[in-house]
Amino acid sequence: MFRASWLVIVLGLVGLGWYLWPHSEVPLASTLSAKAALGKQLFFEKRLSEPAGQSCATCHDPNTGFADPENKLPTSNGTLTWVFGFRNSPTVTYSKFIPPLDYDEGLVSYVGGLFWDGRVDSLAEQAEKPFLNPLEMHNYNKWLVVQSLIKAGHGPAFRKVYGAKSLDLKTDAQANAAFANIADAISAYEQSAELNRFSSKFDSHLKGKVKLTAQEALGLELFNGKGRCAFCHVSTAQNGQPGPLFTNFSYHNLGIPKNWSNPFLYQPDFINPLGDDFVDNGLGETVAEFYPEGAKWEDGKFRTPTLRNIEKTAPYGHNGFFKSLKEIVHFYNTREVPSAGWGPPEVSANENPRIGNLGLTDAEEDAIVAFLRTLTDK
Ligand code: HEC
Ligand code: HEC
Repeated sequence: MFRASWLVIVLGLVGLGWYLWPHSEVPLASTLSAKAALGKQLFFEKRLSEPAGQSCATCHDPNTGFADPENKLPTSNGTLTWVFGFRNSPTVTYSKFIPPLDYDEGLVSYVGGLFWDGRVDSLAEQAEKPFLNPLEMHNYNKWLVVQSLIKAGHGPAFRKVYGAKSLDLKTDAQANAAFANIADAISAYEQSAELNRFSSKFDSHLKGKVKLTAQEALGLELFNGKGRCAFCHVSTAQNGQPGPLFTNFSYHNLGIPKNWSNPFLYQPDFINPLGDDFVDNGLGETVAEFYPEGAKWEDGKFRTPTLRNIEKTAPYGHNGFFKSLKEIVHFYNTREVPSAGWGPPEVSANENPRIGNLGLTDAEEDAIVAFLRTLTDK
């Protein structure tokens, strides 16, 4: 009797020890700081749009690489479902590495800045925009967004992070500060390990844990060599980054044709007064203000995006012109080959001359696509 109860106690202690011992498989979510956890709640909260129904995640869904899951349409509809923006929703993963807009003498190019055209400098500044954009979350002012946050029940978590008085909204200044904190929390989530995992097959390959298939390895070789991709989509880690980001953040006009199936071209006058004459000048418009006579030489240029998670983020290009990876790789290969039949570029000035006639075979194009598919995070 005496011995048996000792056995029970010993076994119990062993069990308790096992239970308390730190386990190696800590789920990612538990690594979020209080601020990032709040930001995550807000990123997925559909009651912060007017009318309710759209969150950041509606257009940046984790299941599709934090880009728009609606991949039949080149651009995204707003919370008013009949309105459309004019650009393709990019991934939000790895956007924490995008530096502020600047000119790089070495690359002879502007670099950095968020959005396809670099018009904002930080994730926190970026996160304010969709809430107030009439083509997206459609709120009339900042105060209303903060009110919606309180109504949706996020007040206690918000006050825990930003202070007991952080939701006092007696003055415009207080409402503006609370709104800026919403963006700050969301940007903390975007900077967390959850969106910056470096957990793709290619990352494992770099650590020597996994071998690429013969086709993937050929794709990598072509990506760095004959395909010239790595010239802009740099395939090695730079400046102490945890892994390659597949971009040097430089700007180029690839000569992508106008996308006639972009729904924005057919929006009513008060949304798009130019109708199908609309042309997206990208960086040219962002930097025009820096030059007395505008910046025509930057027209049609867009920032080189990361290629991480690219398998999941179709369609491709700033205007969603390409439906598949094969199609965009074929475009790089044959833009300058007349028989390929690509239409005229949307902006014919400033086209990048390095691409368009790469001489890749069909099998080589497929190999590059196979390589791109190794960049998907687990
Ligand atoms: C209606 C769809 C939609 C919603 C809702 C939306 N976005 Fe976006 N997002 C886009 C589009 C489209 C772009 C590119 C726009 C451009 O370049 O002008 C973009 C760009 C971005 C970028 C820049 C990425 C880069 O590579 O430059 C970030 C970061 C981002 N969104 C985060 C958010 C956050 C945070 C929210 C919620 C507050 C949000 N988005 C809500 C469609 C959406
Ligand atoms: C001269 C610089 C440059 C080179 C070389 C280059 N790219 Fe790009 N890439 C860009 C830019 C800039 C964009 C965005 C252009 C736009 O949308 O207007 C882009 C876009 C892409 C996209 C779509 C990304 C998205 O989120 O929609 C893919 C995929 C891609 N490139 C793959 C490649 C591959 C594969 C190669 C080699 C065959 C290559 N790129 C060569 C600069 C370059």
